[in-house]
Amino acid sequence: MTLRVSRRGLVPPFIAMDMLSAANAREAAGDRVIHLEVGQPGTPAPQAVLAAARAALAENRIGYTDAAGIAPLRQAIAAHYRAQYGVAVDPAEIAVTTGSSAAFQLAFLAAFEPGDRVALAAPGYPAYRNILSALGLETVLIEVGENAHYQPNPDLLADAGDLDGLIVASPANPTGTMIAPADLARLCDYCRERGIRLISDEIYHGITYGAPAQTARAFGGEGIVVNSFSKYYSMTGWRLGWMIAPPDLARSIECLAQNFYISPPALSQLAALPVFQCRAELDGHVARYRRNRDLLTATLSAAGLARIAPAEGAFYLYVEVAALTDDSAVFCRRMLEEIGIAATPGRDFDPLHGDRWLRFSYAGPSDDIADAASRLSEWLPRTGQGPKAKA
Ligand SMILES: Cc1ncc(COP(=O)(O)O)c(C=O)c1O
Repeated sequence: MTLRVSRRGLVPPFIAMDMLSAANAREAAGDRVIHLEVGQPGTPAPQAVLAAARAALAENRIGYTDAAGIAPLRQAIAAHYRAQYGVAVDPAEIAVTTGSSAAFQLAFLAAFEPGDRVALAAPGYPAYRNILSALGLETVLIEVGENAHYQPNPDLLADAGDLDGLIVASPANPTGTMIAPADLARLCDYCRERGIRLISDEIYHGITYGAPAQTARAFGGEGIVVNSFSKYYSMTGWRLGWMIAPPDLARSIECLAQNFYISPPALSQLAALPVFQCRAELDGHVARYRRNRDLLTATLSAAGLARIAPAEGAFYLYVEVAALTDDSAVFCRRMLEEIGIAATPGRDFDPLHGDRWLRFSYAGPSDDIADAASRLSEWLPRTGQGPKAKA
């Protein structure tokens, strides 16, 4: 007898991870590959975090913790909101999570019923869509192009019908674009007036190249703020994030977290305690991302790929390649085969127009970006000649 496989579990792959496997396979076969496909810093956690981890291993049992995280880390996160944004947050409102990925599951389950309609930007981070659909929610894609600065706004939302939720990210993945504080305030008001639960993904805060990002928490407490130690704090594999839960959801988020995860990883929590004092080291990484961004932007523009979303933050360039291909997944495979550069096809981020775009991550070492830039400047003019490159 055939056993049943659930339809809700059949979410699309995260193509960036599939590209990583293809790139790893080439490397295993002895080829050099420059990894511009996966969004993670090329650096380890800050020195003080590594030292705290070593001390914790020597001195601590590393057992389960409170489901919402250890008190000193929640206090350190609350102090960060005061210092960074001038916003008062009670440590009791903070739940430490297993990466922001776990925070999304908790937030979506606590805030929405199956069938609820949640809006998000296209292009946008694919896991929002895929987690929502695994939980039986309807995703409402808001097309956000150049005119909208690649971000949702009240005019675009007004055309989307009745909504129960909205997810925003500033800086965003894959575009790096930001929502100005006044526009974020307007979005918060829009959501509040219509009973739409706002979820603000602030994972790329700290990695900004102009004005710093403002937290949605500054504009009201009904929304859910999600953040992570993965990106600015350079701690992807430690699987640690946090959320600020509004009072009406706090208990349900705590109970869900107890049942789903028991607790976030204890070693990572103890290690993260000094991370907010590591700004000098971490800002050094941001300075490198800026140099990488500028070099890659100049290289692509010189090769005729000038339509690039304004990368005001994060560590990605989202680049239109429609002049070179109708299918950026095929294009990415060719780029990997011919010049050993792995990038992510836009389809991952945008089911509507993603075939015309791709994403480069420039979070890696500057030598890699310089090498990628020289390979691209030689290859792009060649590959652009003649009819659009297909298979
Ligand atoms: C916009 C965005 N949100 C969330 C995540 C998930 O990160 P983590 O679970 O490591 O916190 C990512 C990872 O790439 C991301 O780009």
